[in-house]
Amino acid sequence: IGVDIDEAKVALLKQGKSPIFEPGLEELIQSGLKSGLLSFTTKLEDAIPGTRIIFSAVATPPGENHAADLRAVFAVTEAVAKAATQDIVFVNKSTVPVGTGKKCADRIAAVLKDRGVALKIPVVSNPEFLREGMAVGDTLMPDRIVVGMNGDDWAKELIEELYRPITRVGKPMVWMNRESAEIVKYASNSFLATKISFINMLTELAEITGANIRDIAKGMGLDDRIGSRFLHAGIGYGGSCFPKDVKALLATAKEYGLDFSIISATDQINTRARQRFLEKVLKVIPAKSTVGVWGLAFKPKTDDMREAPSIDVITALINAGHTVKAFDPAAMETAKKVLPLSTQWMETPMSAANGADVLLVLTEWDAFRGVDLHELANTMKGKDLFDGRNIYDPKDVTTAGLIYHGIGL
Ligand code: UDX
Repeated sequence: IGVDIDEAKVALLKQGKSPIFEPGLEELIQSGLKSGLLSFTTKLEDAIPGTRIIFSAVATPPGENHAADLRAVFAVTEAVAKAATQDIVFVNKSTVPVGTGKKCADRIAAVLKDRGVALKIPVVSNPEFLREGMAVGDTLMPDRIVVGMNGDDWAKELIEELYRPITRVGKPMVWMNRESAEIVKYASNSFLATKISFINMLTELAEITGANIRDIAKGMGLDDRIGSRFLHAGIGYGGSCFPKDVKALLATAKEYGLDFSIISATDQINTRARQRFLEKVLKVIPAKSTVGVWGLAFKPKTDDMREAPSIDVITALINAGHTVKAFDPAAMETAKKVLPLSTQWMETPMSAANGADVLLVLTEWDAFRGVDLHELANTMKGKDLFDGRNIYDPKDVTTAGLIYHGIGL
């Protein structure tokens, strides 16, 4: 039973429609509704009878000083404690700073005491590691399931039973205390973000010395201990997780008086990656240019615009007096809510490039990889192609008569 206080969202879900663009999700919702195993409601009380496990997956957006805003987490925790009529395992899926599980447990205990009931509602941490665009696969076939809890063996048995279809096919389940599980999520996201910032840091050295960042990443990545993934240089990471979680981990470290200098460098290098890209573009284009932009979402296969580098880049270009003609295969509607009003929305990649003085590739959608570069050169007015994601072979672009600007190449 899916519960959400957003009536519009629940209405869509009841009709088998996904409120977000996520490959494979709508089919899954529809088959769940059809079989009767899945239903949706706006009323938490309706979901309580017979329920043994509640997953809380509410948002923890950045709050004051980038620390996670936990209001939704606590609201759900207390609502569950108020509505519970039987023992329930409360599983926290939201990304929350270490110690939040304890705070939830304390709040539950206070509500139950007020109610004068002796129910058991243990709080378990089970962080979510799915990637947007791969959410269904990552959920059903995760690399690992991390579960943190402090006691309550009966709850452990229930969680084991719930995840059995996944553990049966060999996916590991890792048990630890609640505090460790809460940290694993921030540690994993910050480590991956650090890998990206590490390679983005080296792009600067590569550009000055004539080295090639792709070759450097390949040379490093083939060492098993390093691994080749997340060493793709570009205009930096965005999305709903990395930027927020990196800053939130820094806020936690600060709270405990710790200096997490690697993580602050990761954050600074990421901001710099966007700025450097923008500076390079501004240096080349004449005043009042027409700028074609391919890709708005923070990454391919999603319509998510949260912390997308395209927001900073397009806003700065428009503020500098340039005209922006933008195209994205999935994120145009969400982009309209966050990009400047004067952004022009194009129906196809070629119409965004048509008559442009310069073209910027900001998201590595497959649709852009396979374009006819000769056609592109004929469509554009100018010749400069800024490849913010290093998706093209510089030789192919040059052969088509365009001037290639990659990152760290
Ligand atoms: C991430 C984590 O991967 C996931 O485990 C966690 O649960 C949520 O955060 P997501 O935000 O969906 O998932 O996207 P991901 O595919 O990890 O990419 C994040 C950002 O890093 C994107 O902006 C992407 O373009 C960028 N990136 C990724 C790079 O710039 N280079 C890389 O090599 C990899």
